[in-house]
Amino acid sequence: MNVAVLASGTGTNLQALIDRAHGRDGVRIAAVASDRPSSPALERARAAGIERNVFPRSEFPHRQARDDAIAAWLLAQQVELVVLAGYMQLLERSFLRCFPERVINVHPALLPAFPGLKAVDQAIAYGVKVFGVTVHFVDEGVDSGPVILQRALELPQAHDPEQVLAQLRPLEHELLPEAVRLIARGAVRADPENRRRILIER
Ligand code: GRF
Repeated sequence: MNVAVLASGTGTNLQALIDRAHGRDGVRIAAVASDRPSSPALERARAAGIERNVFPRSEFPHRQARDDAIAAWLLAQQVELVVLAGYMQLLERSFLRCFPERVINVHPALLPAFPGLKAVDQAIAYGVKVFGVTVHFVDEGVDSGPVILQRALELPQAHDPEQVLAQLRPLEHELLPEAVRLIARGAVRADPENRRRILIER
């Protein structure tokens, strides 16, 4: 299964995918794209010998044009699954239609709690005692698609977002490669009676 990863940031989740999913269960990370030329994710892709491309906001001021260009590039690489790993842009509906039910995202909260930006800050401000990570399919809403995998972490004293994010990172690095490998194995499907319920065959 040819997989593309979209990343804007440091790319530690991309690195986890390279280390823990690439070359296993039929997964091949075939392409990495970023909207930020300085994203370390691009360097991680280069070091792993993976095709990469950058679609900067300066060249593509309108999201539609950028998303069309990214989709065209990914389709040319015969990508079958798109993984958002810290990709800080929303995607146009037309992009999602190119990869139906084949775009996934990792989010640092237990959805449907705390969607959107600064999820951990939101959770701390709310005063929760349990944090967590969600891997989910991407639909046209913000972090609103069906949940594939979730993992919780009890942090009753949490107060510093950076510390919580650092504690959640290892969970993300396990969960995201696991989800990609399960999808590649054909072990992930929607319950026909309720397509929001994702069934995993272990
Ligand atoms: C992660 O916290 C992820 O949950 C969020 O963006 C961050 C990406 O981190 N969507 P990295 O660039 O993979 O290190």
